[in-house]
Amino acid sequence: MTQDELKQAVARAAIEHVPSGIIGVGTGSTANYFIDELARIKGRIDGAVASSEATAQRLKSHGIPVLDLNTAGELAVYVDGADEITEHLHMIKGGGGALTREKIVAACSKKFVCIADGSKLVGMLGKFPLPVEVIPMAQSYVAREMIKLGGQPVLRQGFTTDNGNIILDVHNLQIMNPVELETQINQITGVVTNGLFARRPADILLLGTAEGVKTLKA
Ligand code: 5RP
Repeated sequence: MTQDELKQAVARAAIEHVPSGIIGVGTGSTANYFIDELARIKGRIDGAVASSEATAQRLKSHGIPVLDLNTAGELAVYVDGADEITEHLHMIKGGGGALTREKIVAACSKKFVCIADGSKLVGMLGKFPLPVEVIPMAQSYVAREMIKLGGQPVLRQGFTTDNGNIILDVHNLQIMNPVELETQINQITGVVTNGLFARRPADILLLGTAEGVKTLKA
């Protein structure tokens, strides 16, 4: 199976985790496949909260109502992909640059269902550069602080987040303790969010493999 077929398989499997009401929807190619599957059962839900402008557009193009998080309240489930995920269901996210809104919607959700093809499962996080969303005027300061933490920050060229900020992709970090590092990076003045999702990990991972969709729980 191709990587895209594995992404489609996990997107289909995630539909079983969709209750009635309002759900949260992530960003990226795997999340896009999920939105396409969601369109088939859209009568079952009242609408969705989107984690990015791109996701909002795709939901709307399928006729799925896009709702404001501030009026939606707590969501039963959030479905999203990941750039890397461990067996503890700690993740690196933000390859698509939507990490801040993703983290907000995940925080408001009772259950986080991660959907990923098998290549995303890793023993230790950090081969994928860690995205850090930064207020533009703090770019140099945050970059220096990331170097102190052992990373090599690279500005994501020509990219502005939905919140009007920049992304530093931080290479070569040794992520031995994801919860601690997530907290530490969030303390740096000028950082909006970092792409470690360890303090609020996924609850379920649907992993696409050649042998079928495997379900992992933390
Ligand atoms: C976007 C994300 C995505 O979930 C992550 O980049 C995975 O993307 P894809 O499903 O295209 O592999 O965090 O900000």
